[in-house]
Amino acid sequence: MNDSPRPPVVVRTRPELEAARAALTGTVAVVMTMGALHDGHASLVRQARQEADHVVMTIFLNPLQFGRNEDLAKYPRTFDADLGLCTAEGVDVVFAPGPDVVYPDGDPGVRVSAGRLGDLLEGKSRPGHFDGVLTVVAKLLHLIRPDRAYFGQKDAQQLLLIRRMVRDLDFGCEVVAVPTVRESDGLAMSSRNTYLTPLDREVALVLPTALGAGESHAPEGASAVRRAARDVLVREPLCLVDYLVLVHPMTLEDVPEWYRGEALLAVAARVGTTRLIDNVLVNIGADGEQARSV
Ligand code: PAJ
Repeated sequence: MNDSPRPPVVVRTRPELEAARAALTGTVAVVMTMGALHDGHASLVRQARQEADHVVMTIFLNPLQFGRNEDLAKYPRTFDADLGLCTAEGVDVVFAPGPDVVYPDGDPGVRVSAGRLGDLLEGKSRPGHFDGVLTVVAKLLHLIRPDRAYFGQKDAQQLLLIRRMVRDLDFGCEVVAVPTVRESDGLAMSSRNTYLTPLDREVALVLPTALGAGESHAPEGASAVRRAARDVLVREPLCLVDYLVLVHPMTLEDVPEWYRGEALLAVAARVGTTRLIDNVLVNIGADGEQARSV
């Protein structure tokens, strides 16, 4: 009896991808990643598998979305372990191209512009980042032609911008959001968590703690949410906050005090040398139970 899971077909070139894609019948879902896979990525695959006949995962460390002083060179590369996760989760095809396959002419002269939404929050600290993300996501959607594409709520602004691109530029695939997967103590899983020293790791917990504190004040209105989250963050001097915002999930504009409904409480901070982001959706004006179920 052989019930061990079958490893995915691994393809690295465009002709190989074309052949592997042609062999997939029925609906196809894509999960795009930069590798260094963890249970957050696995959760995207699990949801994709439930909702489509086949899952294609892309593993590509996209240079276009890293700034000059960012962590491209030291970003964790764990391809063998990544393949193990893909095998265990039942991924059908892994597309793992090099930069020369994705960008055969070097940096593309024409890129997708994220527009105004791309200049806010993460975009303010990482100029050009979202143009780089959208350009590679657009290319991978063209190359793979999936019915559905799965992205994590962990990167809320990225998810919003991909939704906008797919809608504004008529890509014709469905974008599916997957909830953030957390460690048992609440820290959002991230490939960058491997940079954290043991002390950093303890300090980083202030992020989900602050978001939880904000969320618990949702019935009282926007300023109570902001205050509760900020009060937690200021008590941890080793956490250097880049932004803490309570914004409309579609416009990323600050919500006013009279606002009722779903809002995004998002934080970015530096802990040691690592920049971390996290967020929760809170239901402003709703009682605690409802807020937590959003
Ligand atoms: P990466 O950081 O590898 O993340 C790949 C996908 O996994 C994204 O959709 C991200 O939101 C999701 N993800 C990461 N951590 C998660 C968690 N804890 N819970 C749930 N989902 C999580 O995001 C990128 O790569 C790149 O920008 C990419 C979209 C691949 C374009 O290069």
